[in-house]
Amino acid sequence: MSKRFYITTAIDYVNGAPHLGHAYEKVVADVIARSRRSFGEEVFFLTGLDEHGQKVEQAAEANGQTPQDYCDRLAIQWKALTQHLGLSVDDFVRTTEPRHQAVVQAILAKLHAEGQFYKTTYQGWYSVKEETFLTEKDRNPDGTWDAKWGQVNELAEDNWYFRLGLHQAWLIEHLESHPEFVFPESRRNEVLGFLRAERLEDLCISRPRARLSWGIPLPFDQEFVTYVWFDALVNYFSVPAALGDKSALSALGDYYAGKPSSLSIWPADVHLIGKDILKFHAIYWPIMLRVIGAPLPRQLLVHGWWQKDGQKLSKSTGNVVDPEAVIQEWGLDAFRYYVVRELGIGPDGNWTDGGFGDRYRSELANGLGNLVNRAISMLNRYRGGLVPVPHQELAPDALAVVEQATQQLRSFDLQGTLQTIWKLVNRANEYVEQTAPFKLARDPAQATRLDEVLYNLVECCRILGVLLWPFMPQTADRIFAQLRLCDAPDRWSLARWGVLEIGHQVGTPVPLFPRKDLAPAVEAKKATAKSV
Ligand code: MSP
Repeated sequence: MSKRFYITTAIDYVNGAPHLGHAYEKVVADVIARSRRSFGEEVFFLTGLDEHGQKVEQAAEANGQTPQDYCDRLAIQWKALTQHLGLSVDDFVRTTEPRHQAVVQAILAKLHAEGQFYKTTYQGWYSVKEETFLTEKDRNPDGTWDAKWGQVNELAEDNWYFRLGLHQAWLIEHLESHPEFVFPESRRNEVLGFLRAERLEDLCISRPRARLSWGIPLPFDQEFVTYVWFDALVNYFSVPAALGDKSALSALGDYYAGKPSSLSIWPADVHLIGKDILKFHAIYWPIMLRVIGAPLPRQLLVHGWWQKDGQKLSKSTGNVVDPEAVIQEWGLDAFRYYVVRELGIGPDGNWTDGGFGDRYRSELANGLGNLVNRAISMLNRYRGGLVPVPHQELAPDALAVVEQATQQLRSFDLQGTLQTIWKLVNRANEYVEQTAPFKLARDPAQATRLDEVLYNLVECCRILGVLLWPFMPQTADRIFAQLRLCDAPDRWSLARWGVLEIGHQVGTPVPLFPRKDLAPAVEAKKATAKSV
């Protein structure tokens, strides 16, 4: 069996509420996963939850629950989000699952046996919020600790360390010889800059059980649990191993009793992550894999962070966007469209309700929705819904768009792909204005011309359904349903001209993006802006 295209997202901390940032990352991954399926590749798309660590333990205690009950309760909400976002995931991992823990322990046992770890006493400062040790370098110039570290405690404790320093040279070499390993380039430069400038400190991979019990026990020292990041990163590998992927199993050898299957998943083709967790993925993770003896992932795609109205998303100040609420009000595809159209993979983005409403109205309702509605209505009105003889007038426009969109999608330029697809939406809408089918219909001598125009319009709509499927699967399905096509729009190869056949009967049009009054909050803001 050929290797699947394997894409993962960061696994979210179970103790936070899902917000725009989490939803964006998952939608981007889904668009990539669907596009590869549409291209005819087999895909494995993984997402999930990061459930161990002190923060979860403390939050559970504050809620009067055991950590496991607490995680089980929250996991329901997170899994529901996966469905509400329409994610085509193949698996959903929770780091508290036995299948994951077994692989983490196998890796730890192997590396310990090979002498990769050593135990020593640490004395210094510890941030509970970030679950990390701090050094004097982390202090503010005035000697205080930055608020981002939360409560900082002084402690002295024994721990297990992983010799990262030994791996600096080859990692630099790997980044240099694989320019695609970290995208965008600015993030790659950030990692390279750091690696060239600083000596890698050894990584503390344990936490004493006496201080934190909510973690995976070290198989070689029961007094300790595994550091939450070492545990979490392994999720990308534990799921393939648990499913019997041969590449994963062969790296684990006798340390893991897994049954090989015909599934071929590892290595990952894409790890999609936010900019804040780059160091863990570009430094710790490749070193861990190299030491395990497993092939490295092909690429890290690093996205930026969303703000709302120019301010950080924050529950405490109420500056949040609740993806579920937006989806309820505007529909799933409007949400998926907006986030991908607004923010490419790389820079930071800014959500405004006004910006969302504008794109909904002009690009979705008046652009795509209006086109599909007009094309199918006119075919019904003037030709009883029967497709006329095929005609090629817009074929060059459509094919140029397909070609460009294919290249952009292959190189993960999702925002650019949507811009390209909208060239066809706009061209077809412009064509309606130029050809004025309503006038042609009044003149019997123009019957052939009207046939030509109508064919070009419905064929464009069909092709748009195919191009849009990775981004807006429901909308694509609805376009195909209104055209009464039995095929699904989920195969890119259907994006070729001339597939609609003469005499095919289309269905009735139903608005794809109902026009809405502006949300009250947006109205209020506009009124204030005007009065200033
Ligand atoms: N649990 C770790 C990841 C472990 S991966 C082995 C974690 N979790 S998180 O819940 O804090 O973040 C999950 C993802 O959401 C990260 O990729 C993070 O960058 C992303 N985002 C969190 N806030 C964000 C925004 N405001 N905007 C965009 N993405 C953001 O980190």
